Amino acid sequence: MIQLIRGFKDVLPGEVELWQAIEKTAISVFDDFGFKEIRIPIIEKTELFSRSIGDNTDIVEKEMYTFSDRKGDLITLRPEATASVVRSYIQHKLYTSDPVQKFYTIGPMFRRERPQQGRYRQFYQINAEIFGIDSPLADVQLIFLLVTLFSRLAVPDVETHINSLGCPICRPGFKQALIDFLSKTKVKLCSDCIRRSKQNPLRVLDCKVPSCREAMAQTPSLLDFLCYECVRDFKILTDSLEHLNISFIIDKRLVRGLDYYTRATFEIQTGFLGAQSAVAGGGRYDGLVEALGGPDLPATGFAIGLDRLTEISDLQIDDYHKTPQIFIAALGQKSKGKAFEWVCSLNKTGIRAEMDFGEKSLKSQMKRANKLGASHVLIVGEKELTEGSAVLRDMMTKKQVFISTDAVIENVSRKLGALPL
Ligand code: HAM
Repeated sequence: MIQLIRGFKDVLPGEVELWQAIEKTAISVFDDFGFKEIRIPIIEKTELFSRSIGDNTDIVEKEMYTFSDRKGDLITLRPEATASVVRSYIQHKLYTSDPVQKFYTIGPMFRRERPQQGRYRQFYQINAEIFGIDSPLADVQLIFLLVTLFSRLAVPDVETHINSLGCPICRPGFKQALIDFLSKTKVKLCSDCIRRSKQNPLRVLDCKVPSCREAMAQTPSLLDFLCYECVRDFKILTDSLEHLNISFIIDKRLVRGLDYYTRATFEIQTGFLGAQSAVAGGGRYDGLVEALGGPDLPATGFAIGLDRLTEISDLQIDDYHKTPQIFIAALGQKSKGKAFEWVCSLNKTGIRAEMDFGEKSLKSQMKRANKLGASHVLIVGEKELTEGSAVLRDMMTKKQVFISTDAVIENVSRKLGALPL
């Protein structure tokens, strides 16, 4: 038997209702906050991701699903959505009428990471991106949106971690201080961090290996190296979060796995997911639009890990299993044909109707109706068809009434409440 690929998963009926409810809630929150949906391709030119996420990141170095297509062009299954949204914003000149644009997009991403709880090779993200606003209030709005959404989704106990990654003016000073610090602590670092300390030293800060964490406890803080503008913006960020009563933790070791970030960065973390504690992450990426060939416009955004969100949301789904409102138990060839017409018409009217397509006895059809949880059963045989009247049974009260076979749709709709015919 062919099994699915490691790190990939099926979302089955019974679970998928929660996914749908989360997506629906997210869309309604995005509507309230003035975000518009954008849909972008799942495959892009590899260069788009290597240029935006950064050649020295884990994602680009070892996690992307990259293929050459039949013409030999290098293409990649998207590991994230931001690069594509930026490409689209530039390609369609979406900034010409108004540089300020707010987009959201929901869909699958692909990273060939080591699978474990909360970490998959195909996973889903809910993304939000704001273009054209350089005020830190845009970052605050994103964090506020996340907190609002998580509260509507009954997500318990999340922590908002924030940091500033500085800008091209102040970050080099910090990078040098970090390199100096790392050169002294090198012996205590894991082999990945020894490599990272040369290629991408900031990434050492969030290594999860306990010995590295210990070695990095006394690391210099980027916040001590920020330039005047970055300090000012970070202060606006923290003051505004306080005004909105959003509690947060300033986390000097919070860096992100993608290179495009500047200034404000944030993560929403939870204790319920073991090692994969980030349910959402994001921040400002002011240089990316220009770096990808667009105008010099600022941008900020986030992505929620939808798989992780489903694992921690306490949302109660009322109609978890939508049971049929009516099951038509038909006996005989002619009645089956009629029952099928009725099922089609009832479904069209907005009534969940089912039938058995085989040649089963009445007893076994009633058993199936029960198993499906149908609230009513319409029983019709050749005799009922000739006489023009069939039995409608309420499965709860066991009461039965006769309804005319000439007006089944009207009668059933009236009884069960359907869209107007
Ligand atoms: P990211 O931190 O790489 O950021 O991913 C965002 C979220 O996606 C993570 O916090 C996590 O919940 C989820 N996630 C990431 N990898 C996996 C995985 N292998 N399995 C399950 N969930 C995962 C970004 O992707 C940025 N594009 C976010 C962003 C948007 N920044 C600005 N705009």
